[in-house]
Amino acid sequence: MSNEMLLAAQKPVLTDNVISMNNVRKAYTTGKVTFEALKGVDFHARRGEFLAIVGPSGSGKSTMMNIIGCLDIPTSGDYVLDDQVVNKLNSNQLADIRNRKIGFVFQAFNLLPYATAYENVEVPLLFARVNARQRKERIMALLSRVGLADKVANKPTEMSGGEMQRVAIARALANEPDIILADEPTGNLDTKSGGGIVQLFHELWQSGKTIIIITHDMNIARQSGRVFKLKDGLVDTNGNGI
Ligand SMILES: Nc1ncnc2c1ncn2[C@@H]1O[C@H](COP(=O)(O)OP(=O)(O)OP(=O)(O)O)[C@@H](O)[C@H]1O
Ligand SMILES: [Mg+2]
Repeated sequence: MSNEMLLAAQKPVLTDNVISMNNVRKAYTTGKVTFEALKGVDFHARRGEFLAIVGPSGSGKSTMMNIIGCLDIPTSGDYVLDDQVVNKLNSNQLADIRNRKIGFVFQAFNLLPYATAYENVEVPLLFARVNARQRKERIMALLSRVGLADKVANKPTEMSGGEMQRVAIARALANEPDIILADEPTGNLDTKSGGGIVQLFHELWQSGKTIIIITHDMNIARQSGRVFKLKDGLVDTNGNGI
């Protein structure tokens, strides 16, 4: 073997895929019944992409998102996140990756109901043991960034749905994750506030974040950089995505 060939053979395989799923399957067992929600999915996302995952109800979108976000692991197949093989990690290691790399946004906002916008955004910073002065600076900057500088002291009951989702996005950004995962982030919002949330994702995309949203709404999906379609637990290469 020539020196050149030897060097080439030793070179690590570098990809700019931040997310790489290969032949991922996920089976859920309830009692004696096993259901395969993902039946061998290949999925790749490049760093800085804005992707929409679409598909009918029950097609496996949230299952896929849970795996991408290290909330769950595949039953078989490989999941590589940032060049790290995730499917062999234990729950503490998964939690560590989640906290460092991923921000989650959910359809139902999942805010603490009795806490203010400020306190909701503070939660992940407390977990990350950020000191009080830095917490305050970061929370104010985050709430300004999502357009809520004047709602710092409002509780969820004192905000609109769109505003609540903005607080949830500020909270997702608190630990400066590279990846934002959003499961139906506009599902509980009217068209106008949903549009505002998509606009905010666009701004985050422009700032370099990798963004993956699940949506039922093709109008929203079309505003992303690329649409990925699922159907019955498989990649759908032909369908219209709904
Ligand atoms: N924890 C679980 N235990 C058993 N079955 C589950 C579990 N989670 C999901 N499933 C099943 O797996 C399939 C895919 O579910 P998933 O939540 O991923 O679908 P989805 O595409 O997100 O649907 P929706 O658009 O309604 O949110 C469904 O048939 C669901 O019933
Ligand atoms: Mg779902």
